[in-house]
Amino acid sequence: MDTSFVDREQPRLLQELSDFLSIPSVSTLPAHGVDTRRAADWLRAELTRLGCPVVDLIEGDGHPVVWAEGPVVPGRPTLLIYGHYDVQPPDPLEEWDTPPFTPTVRDGKLFARGAADDKGQVFCLLKAYEAVVDANGQPPLNVRFIFEGEEECGGRVVFDLLRAEPERTRADAVLVCDSSFYAPGWPAVYTALRGLCYAEISVRTLQRDLHSGSYGGVAPNALETLVRILSRLKSADGEIRIPKVYKSVEEPTKRELKAWRKLPFDEDAFLREEVTGKALTGLEDHSVFERVWALPTFEIHGIRGGFVGDGAKTVIPAHAVAKVSLRLVPGQRYEKVGRQLERAVSDLAPDWADVKVTLLHGGDPVQIPVEHPAFAILDDAFEEVVGRRTVSIRSGGSIPIIPELGLAGAPVILTGIGLPDDGLHSPNEKLDLAQLWSGIRVFGRFFELFAERGGSARAEDGSEREAVETV
Ligand code: BES
Ligand code: MN
Repeated sequence: MDTSFVDREQPRLLQELSDFLSIPSVSTLPAHGVDTRRAADWLRAELTRLGCPVVDLIEGDGHPVVWAEGPVVPGRPTLLIYGHYDVQPPDPLEEWDTPPFTPTVRDGKLFARGAADDKGQVFCLLKAYEAVVDANGQPPLNVRFIFEGEEECGGRVVFDLLRAEPERTRADAVLVCDSSFYAPGWPAVYTALRGLCYAEISVRTLQRDLHSGSYGGVAPNALETLVRILSRLKSADGEIRIPKVYKSVEEPTKRELKAWRKLPFDEDAFLREEVTGKALTGLEDHSVFERVWALPTFEIHGIRGGFVGDGAKTVIPAHAVAKVSLRLVPGQRYEKVGRQLERAVSDLAPDWADVKVTLLHGGDPVQIPVEHPAFAILDDAFEEVVGRRTVSIRSGGSIPIIPELGLAGAPVILTGIGLPDDGLHSPNEKLDLAQLWSGIRVFGRFFELFAERGGSARAEDGSEREAVETV
């Protein structure tokens, strides 16, 4: 690949990425519906400009899927590229040093919501494709792009599409760039992602809020009731108290645990620089890697109810709501865990409260074998450009569509160009520009190497193998 593309085009690329990041495509907020569609339109225009003869917005009950096919290159392998153009809400807004949708470069880093998760990485793949087309005069392989707008909000459009038309996933490999390096200088591929079971718990104890003097002492308080229930779902030392929730959890293999022990890891720096707290919490007899990669969690994301405005209001709240989720690990299924949560909450609910659990969305955990030759090709590309092959690690995060991407048997390569301190879902999310520029070279090189060697990767006898294992 002609490596001058990046040097030559940097100012234009930065401008284009800034335009993309300026669109507040917050998929979970109805008020941003139009903006989310604008991000899809931006991709459509970009893919058309890149010379894709097929570019479709596929509609469903939610935000559209952007689907594109590059020009047919006979005799060459096919790569399916997945990413998402939606982002998480930017709150708390006041903690951003510069506004989340005004992309700003400081100290070689581009700050904006979506800079790393995932618009910046989607952009990296698009520009890698542009770079190889630019260098060779034509694409060296067949590519298909599938970009969804509901990854962060648990939408169904892309699921419905792939379940109805699984042949869209027929490819020699699937490339997903929605994660990060293990550490600066250490590219990674992911062997597992956690699943998710996200729910809302609502409690009503009264028909209306009451004066806390006149009725305090006798009237049941909805917030207090909710907090009592929540506090019994997890112990102070980090054990989830939902009956049977650990029963089907599969432990990592000895080989995996051994490999994790060899990873360079400075727990103090991790606590200080990434976690930014005073101590790590959770099950102390398990390592940090086990706790974030191989064990389920229970988190409270937010609680609404009563009075939280300025000043004081003496009130007994009638109604309270909590948003909670569990991260799930191999062996668990989100539908089953959802039922376990419903049961546990209803067993804890006092008779005089109306307590309701609503499951908002979920995804199963996945495990991905990384022995397929496509992974070695990616390693070669990383080695050439950044001087190191990937380390195999897991991620504590979730990408619910991954099992569907492997439906036709193609190996799913989960990797990324972010860094661990990018601040995904946090204020001041960023992407290091050096990672973006080298990432364009890595994936450009990967496309070229995969064009030469990726076709032989498909099973000769046409048999299909399990590319992604749920459970
Ligand atoms: N890119 C993340 C997933 C991720 C996080 C991978 C960290 C590797 C490391 C993804 O966009 C994400 O945040 N997903 C959501 C999915 C959920 C809303 C269903 C998540 O994990 O919270
Ligand atoms: Mn993401």
